[in-house]
Amino acid sequence: MSEKIKQWQATGEVRDTLGRVLRDLRISVIDRCNYRCPYCMPADIYGENYEWLPRKHWLTPGEIKRVAGLFTQLGVTKLRITGGEPLLRKDIVEIVDGLSSIPGIEDIALTTNGTLLEERAAQLKAAGLERITISLDSMDESVFSAMSGQRGELASVLTGIDAARDAGLAPIKVNVVVQKGKNDHTVLDLLEHFRGTGAIVRFIEYMDVGTLNGWRLEEVVTSKELVELISARWPVEPLQRNYRGEVAQRYAFKDGQGEIGFISSVSEPFCGDCHRGRLSADGTIYTCLFATNGTPLRDVLRSGASDADIVGLLQNVWRHRGDRYSELRGKATKRARSSKVEMYRMGG
Ligand code: GTP
Ligand code: 5AD
Ligand code: SF4
Ligand code: SF4
Repeated sequence: MSEKIKQWQATGEVRDTLGRVLRDLRISVIDRCNYRCPYCMPADIYGENYEWLPRKHWLTPGEIKRVAGLFTQLGVTKLRITGGEPLLRKDIVEIVDGLSSIPGIEDIALTTNGTLLEERAAQLKAAGLERITISLDSMDESVFSAMSGQRGELASVLTGIDAARDAGLAPIKVNVVVQKGKNDHTVLDLLEHFRGTGAIVRFIEYMDVGTLNGWRLEEVVTSKELVELISARWPVEPLQRNYRGEVAQRYAFKDGQGEIGFISSVSEPFCGDCHRGRLSADGTIYTCLFATNGTPLRDVLRSGASDADIVGLLQNVWRHRGDRYSELRGKATKRARSSKVEMYRMGG
């Protein structure tokens, strides 16, 4: 064991083998989705007969709250609820209610595709949700429909965004995955729509998550390319990051019409500061978005383990963590590694 690691352990801080703390827990509450975005759940693979996690394996709202609460003892202060599509869980409001009452949690957000947001926005806000991120890849109806695997309807997402705003969820962020030849020609129209509305649009480089999306480096549009494209139309300037390890690089429109962000996991990996852990719907802990395996917690929870046992297990997992997939992937790699867990399963 290195001197540095001995030192961290002596101070009681939970750090991984690269010295990174744990701050952010991303909780996937369901693996199912009503969309079939080709970059995430290609429809030819996720058809009618696809076997999703059985419901009895989903952690209950009480179990999710317990695990998240124990994670605060390792340093977690920020929670993000994801899926699949989290609003497909009928008990999503109860889940949010439980999580928002955990002492030590400073920030709680949820990522959704927005289809069910209109009916849920006010309830989620009342249950303690502070802000929301909506995935929306294009304002062109046919491009949007293709990006959702022909399942999405643009109007319902826009209605959902309005409902979130009316409910007081703020800030609203809009996540856009950009794929070359698919939706990159609609980027400026999308910004035209959201500029000046207070919503923060963030462009995400298409990633080689999972094994099933047929990822090719040629389909990645880098953030640098996008900044050039956007600033030729509306000049932008970089902003300071909000917090250490922030995933998005922030920019402001120079004409005061708001903020945008770029998530450059492929062209500029940010593993060095990665303080994110992930809990899947079936109670597995993952220490990287690109993990090939995780640590199952569900049976431990259901067999009567004490809080101290579980905290010990979580500390052990974090202390052994050495993940930095995006850095190792390297810019030159054209093909993705093959046995990774799918993103909708572990939570984006
Ligand atoms: P804020 O809390 O609002 O700053 O957002 P966030 O950093 O939690 O980002 P968000 O959940 O909106 O993530 C946006 C996208 O960034 C995800 O859907 C992923 O595509 C990507 N992303 C988030 N975390 C990681 C990560 O740890 N590694 C990699 N490679 N990509 C990530
Ligand atoms: N590359 C980048 N982002 C992805 N997401 C899903 N699959 C990918 C991928 N292959 C993002 C979605 C959504 C979040 C849940 O994960 O856009 O914002
Ligand atoms: Fe569903 Fe989000 Fe995956 Fe699209 S990216 S299929 S909306 S989980
Ligand atoms: Fe963190 Fe893994 Fe993403 Fe790197 S690739 S930033 S280690 S989740």
